Amino acid sequence: MAKAIYPGSFDPITLGHLDLIKRSSRVFDEVIVCILNNASKKCPLFSIEERVKMLGDVTAEYSNVKVASSEGLLVDFARENGVNFIVRGLRGTTDFDFELQMAQANKTMSSEIETVFLATDPRYSFISSSMVKEFASYGKSVAGFVPEQVLQQIERKYNIM
Ligand code: PNS
Repeated sequence: MAKAIYPGSFDPITLGHLDLIKRSSRVFDEVIVCILNNASKKCPLFSIEERVKMLGDVTAEYSNVKVASSEGLLVDFARENGVNFIVRGLRGTTDFDFELQMAQANKTMSSEIETVFLATDPRYSFISSSMVKEFASYGKSVAGFVPEQVLQQIERKYNIM
């Protein structure tokens, strides 16, 4: 059975993330979308509990997708959960260096787990969670960048009417 983990901060989940989840769910028998800590990202907008709830809501229609969170290392979570593949999206060359380094480091730590890259759909290649938060913090609508249910949560956080 091909079991994959799609890890990320998901603070918040964007339409680009959701597209990768949908496509991964067609490629793998089971996909665990796992919220993990990115040490370089401080002060999250949404708590882990809020992110788990949002991810659960927007992925509910995919029967082979589960949502989880972990405070630990990606490779440890993968091994403990019998995962054979890590899925990451590539938006462009700026993602590539970091993603390659992470894939190689994870491979060194856990040789049985393969990282698989999916090319981001060009419609979403400019979208990032950081950009969403920056626009929203100035009161701009981020409709078209995030799923509808997430849009409402962002507007509530930033008091956008
Ligand atoms: O959405 P992001 O912030 O690009 O995701 C990065 C993430 C969370 C997948 C990465 O930072 C990670 O795997 N964190 C868990 C801790 C870990 O395993 N670190 C070693 C990575 S080389």
